[in-house]
Amino acid sequence: TTKAVILVGGPSRGTRFRPLSLDLPKPLFEVAGHPIISHCFAAITKLPEIREVFIVGYYDESVFRDFIKDCGRTHSNISVRYLREYQALGTAGGLYHFRDAILKGRPDRFFVLNADVCCSFPLEQMQQLFDANDAEAVILGTRVPNDSATNFGCIVSDPQSKRVLHYVEKPESFISNLINCGVYLFATEAIFPSIKSAMTRRSERPRLVSYPSSDALDRQYVPQGDDDDQKTEAIRLEHDILSDLADTSRFYVLETKDFWRQIKTAGSAVPANALYLMKAFQTQSKELAKPSATILPPVFIHPTAQVDPTAKLGPNVSIGPRAVIGAGARIKESIVLEDAEIRHDACVLYSIIGWSSRVGAWARVEGTPTPVREHSTSIVKNGVKVQSITILGKECSVADEVRVQNCVCLPFKELKRDVQNEVIM
Ligand code: GDD
Ligand code: GTP
Repeated sequence: TTKAVILVGGPSRGTRFRPLSLDLPKPLFEVAGHPIISHCFAAITKLPEIREVFIVGYYDESVFRDFIKDCGRTHSNISVRYLREYQALGTAGGLYHFRDAILKGRPDRFFVLNADVCCSFPLEQMQQLFDANDAEAVILGTRVPNDSATNFGCIVSDPQSKRVLHYVEKPESFISNLINCGVYLFATEAIFPSIKSAMTRRSERPRLVSYPSSDALDRQYVPQGDDDDQKTEAIRLEHDILSDLADTSRFYVLETKDFWRQIKTAGSAVPANALYLMKAFQTQSKELAKPSATILPPVFIHPTAQVDPTAKLGPNVSIGPRAVIGAGARIKESIVLEDAEIRHDACVLYSIIGWSSRVGAWARVEGTPTPVREHSTSIVKNGVKVQSITILGKECSVADEVRVQNCVCLPFKELKRDVQNEVIM
C-alpha cells in the first residue's frame, strides 16, 4: 500500500506570505476557490490505493480541523490526520518523529508533498517510474531559467536512465536547471534508515561546524524538549538526505513539463491562482463561471458573491464568498477575498484584495504582470525592488478615484491618496 504526507510547516514559516498569513495559515489560503492544501489533497485522492494521508506540521491542533472534516465528507474512504510536531523538526525530522504512524500497516512506500507548491502533481507517473526501476526514491523535477535555479534544490540526472546523480540544495553557483519541485515518493525501507544515519552522523559530529555553503546562516539550532544541554538541529530532507540518496543509484527524477510554481510570497498566490484556474478550465470544471461578453475565462465566482452583470472579469480571477462587485468594475489577474467590496467602475489588475477590504468607485488597484517563466514576484522599479503584485491586507480601504500601484498594504489601512511602490504599514 501507499500513503501520503503533506508537509505544512508552522506559524514561524510563511513569513514571506505576509500580510495574508497574518490572518490565516498559508496552507488554508484559497486559490482558484480552494485552500492551497486542498489542491494537494485532491491530487492524492486520484490514486485509489492511498487510504491514509498525514498532514505534518507545527501549527496548533485546531488549525486543520475544519479542513480535515471537509476531507472526510468528500472522501469518507480516506483517513486524514494532523500530526503535530512540538517544534520545527525539519522536513525529514518530522517524518522520522511520526514514523510509527507512517509505518503502521507496513506500506512499502509513501508520497511526501510540500504544501507550498502549485503543480499538476503527476503522482501516478511518479509511481510508474518508481515501479519500472524498482526505485528507492523518486523526486519530481522541473526546468527553470538558469538564473533562478540556485533558489531551489538542484538535480543532476542521467538523461537516459533518469537516475539522480547529484543533488545540491540551493547551491552557491549554477549546477543544473532541473530543480526539486518538493514532491517525492519514498520506499519506506530506504528512507527511514537514511534519516536515522543522518541523525547519528549529526550527533557524532561537533555541533557548530561551519558549512561551506551560505545555508549555514539559516540553519536552525533547536533545543530538544526542555533539556537545553541536549540540542539537535532540525533534520532536513533537502540538506541531509537527498544527496545521500543520490549515491545509492536507485534515486530517480520525473521531469514534469506541466506547470509548477512555488507559493512563497503573498504575490505568488496570483500566478498559482491563474495556473489552477487554467487547469480547471482545461478539465471543464463545473465550478468556473460561464464565459460571456463580461466573463473572460477562466474565472471562479463563489456562489455567494454578488457580481454586477456589467462588471468585466477575467482572465484568471477568483471572487470569494460574499464579495460584492459593482457595476462597470474591471477585474483581471486578481484574487478578491471573502466579504470584500469593489465599487462601481473600479479597476483591479494583478492584485489581491484582502478580506472585507473595500475599493472605492473609479479607484484603480494594480500590480504589474510578471513574465510567465519568471519564478519571482518582485520587479525593479526606479532602481528599487518592489512587489509586482499589489496586495491589500484584511479590512483595508481605498478611497474613490485613488490609484494604488505595486504596493503591499498591511491590514486595516485607509488609502486616501495615490500611492506607488510602497509597503504601507
Ligand atoms: N512539518 C514540517 N516541519 N514541515 C516543514 C518544516 C518542519 O520543520 N520545515 C519546512 N516544512 C515544510 C514547509 O511548509 C514546506 O511545505 C516544505 O516543508 C519545504 O519548505 P522549506 O524548508 O522552507 O524549503 P523551501 O520551500 O525553501 O525549498 C524546498 O522546496 C523547493 C520547491 O518549492 C526544497 O525542497 C527545494 O529543494 C525545492 O526546490
Ligand atoms: P479587452 O481585454 O481587450 O477585453 O479590453 P479591456 O478594456 O478589458 O482591457 P484589459 O483587458 O487590458 O483590462 C484592463 C483595462 O481596463 C485597463 O487597462 C483599462 O483600460 C481598463 N480600465 C481602466 N480603468 C478602468 C475602470 O475604472 N473601469 C473599467 N471598467 N475599466 C477600466
